[in-house]
Amino acid sequence: MPWKQHEVFETRTVALTAGILVVVAVGGIVEIAPLFSIENTIERVEGVRPYSPLELAGRDIYIREGCYVCHSQQIRALRDEVERYGHYSLAAESMYDHPFQWGSKRNGPDLARVGGKYSNEWHVAHLLDPRAVVPESIMPPYAFLLDGELEPESYAAHLIALRRVGVPYDDEMIASAAFDMRNQASPDGDWQAVQARYPKATVGDLDGDPARLTEMDALVAYLQILGRMVDFSDVDPAVLRQH
Ligand code: HEC
Repeated sequence: MPWKQHEVFETRTVALTAGILVVVAVGGIVEIAPLFSIENTIERVEGVRPYSPLELAGRDIYIREGCYVCHSQQIRALRDEVERYGHYSLAAESMYDHPFQWGSKRNGPDLARVGGKYSNEWHVAHLLDPRAVVPESIMPPYAFLLDGELEPESYAAHLIALRRVGVPYDDEMIASAAFDMRNQASPDGDWQAVQARYPKATVGDLDGDPARLTEMDALVAYLQILGRMVDFSDVDPAVLRQH
């Protein structure tokens, strides 16, 4: 049986507006209310961990130098992206990024999975002079990063600040921030201790200058962890291509 009361709404603008508001409010509440009762909207994924102090310093340099102006860090779930860059990005992979570096500007390639793609030496040579490695590159050189020395003692405060916004740095990580920063980039450092706290961290003399701890060390450490925290090795590439 057709509903006869339509006329009530269709002949009265105010009633129609009120009716629309009621319907939209109900729809909104149904969508929004559940978010208040769940702890996190991001699905947890195994392997995602906070950045090591050295990687964090590298991330700061990445932001300071505006690398995001030309590089995104978000692989979309589209076939061409997945074939070029690898598994599409998961929200959890950037859950400890403050702020995240997804971006949409791609003058250069996406860097979400650049970790492990090249050697440390390649990154240093590329950052010193991109055109020495990729002749047609339009990326600017960043040779001055070798002159900037890091101050490991200042990094504990950084970790504490991030802990305040929810990054799970524990007391041990904070107490050993300076130690971890020095040892990750030192050719004879205590790599085991660093990797116990920060699995998969790239260790060793990263910038080709074992005597100094430079901004280059930090940026290479950061680039080398990008996209490597989560293990996607058992994902069937055919499944990815269906997107
Ligand atoms: C003016 C734009 C621009 C800026 C700024 C820029 N890049 Fe690039 N980048 C490019 C282009 C173009 C390429 C591709 C050619 C090449 O490999 O040099 C590239 C390539 C790269 C690659 C290799 C990616 C791959 O998968 O082959 C890395 C790593 C990289 N950039 C890191 C950085 C970092 C770190 C910074 C900041 C310190 C930076 N870029 C700043 C344009 C830029």
